[in-house]
Amino acid sequence: MRMVDLILKKRAGEAHTQAELTYIIDAYVKGDIPDYQMSAWMMAVCFQGMTEAETAWLTGQMTYSGDTVKLDDLPGVKVDKHSTGGVGDTTTLVIAPLVAACGGTVAKMSGRGLGHTGGTLDKLEAVPGVCIEQPIDRFKEIVKRIGLCVIGQTGNLVPADKKMYALRDVTGTVQSIPLIASSIMSKKLASGADAIVLDVKFGTGAFMQTPEDAEHLAKTMVTIGNHLQRRTMAVITDMNQPLGMAVGNGLEVREAIDVLSGRVPNTDPLYKVCMILGACMLQITGIAKEEKEAEAKLTQALQSGAGLKKLEQMLTALGAVDAPGVIADPEQLCRVQKRIPVALGKAGYIGDMRASAIGNAAQLLGAGRATKADVIDPAVGIVLHKRRGDRIQADEPFATFYVNDESRLEDAEKILRGAVQVADAPVAQAPIVYKIVRE
Ligand code: URA
Ligand code: CA
Repeated sequence: MRMVDLILKKRAGEAHTQAELTYIIDAYVKGDIPDYQMSAWMMAVCFQGMTEAETAWLTGQMTYSGDTVKLDDLPGVKVDKHSTGGVGDTTTLVIAPLVAACGGTVAKMSGRGLGHTGGTLDKLEAVPGVCIEQPIDRFKEIVKRIGLCVIGQTGNLVPADKKMYALRDVTGTVQSIPLIASSIMSKKLASGADAIVLDVKFGTGAFMQTPEDAEHLAKTMVTIGNHLQRRTMAVITDMNQPLGMAVGNGLEVREAIDVLSGRVPNTDPLYKVCMILGACMLQITGIAKEEKEAEAKLTQALQSGAGLKKLEQMLTALGAVDAPGVIADPEQLCRVQKRIPVALGKAGYIGDMRASAIGNAAQLLGAGRATKADVIDPAVGIVLHKRRGDRIQADEPFATFYVNDESRLEDAEKILRGAVQVADAPVAQAPIVYKIVRE
């Protein structure tokens, strides 16, 4: 097979055979196909797309391009959850403990944040002592003992995606549904879960701008999962504002603890998305038969404090110096030199927010990375005081900045002010959950 012929074939809009996709991935990972040919082929995929079968074959080949994790020796249906990335999205730290408290088994490998998106690993590391690099045997031992564990990807998991993603990032080929779907699903499949619940986001802070595009991505990923014998469901959710009120690592851990402690109302978007994703996880594992039953179980785990206890156990297992102390007083994760209120200078009703810009503002304060080498300050970030639809006065604080390093404070304020629409008339409320995609 010659790569140039396969590029021409995709450019002409034809579908590849399984053997052709196997060749492309294997030869690219080995170094036999150069980056320039792979870039040209991925650009052709961006324009011409892929069939369901092609996307599933591509994902399967990527999944087995490196090590895979076997969780077969752990009891029960192992369930994972994945979000396509957003701002103020602290769902994992709420749902994994709640699902474990309901009898689920959550063995999850998570990622770091880059650019405007946060990452669960960075949030966990905001807790003093926590180490997210754990040997697989230790990871499994923790899951077996307490029902959950979240760690960083270990070993050589999906090298095909590492190489392809780095190339996509610099060749304008990130935005392609088959490429995004295979990238996400190959990593989920390689990390060993039997069942996967996906949170596919749309809006200003997400890869997909519209609910229709998000639904297309969600259906593609659910189809891949089913092709490869994993139970898969997707929830399509709104990212036209940050999901939680906190954007920053220690701040988001504090918010997760607040939810698990019952201090966040059940009308809150973060609370609602946690409940729906958790309910899907309980249904997909057979722990609950339908949504109402699942929600009742999750509510019970929250109100009894059982979910909070699971989070504490996990933090302790990962090396936290004083997990009970952090759970009792999460304020200690957000100690900064200054808390600075930021007003918008305009009165009216809060409209859509560019969630990605709010993520960028938090990054400028030191809460995120522009490049992989940047060091995060776990205590800094932004706490919002208003949500879409709320009324605001010109001099009323819209947010509070948690700051240690003021060098880019003005830029961060400017970005935040530019990220929020203020309307003269009341703004209609959009539902947080757009749709659920089942197998
Ligand atoms: N997240 C991924 O892991 N891959 C993509 O392509 C997009 C988002
Ligand atoms: Ca994430």
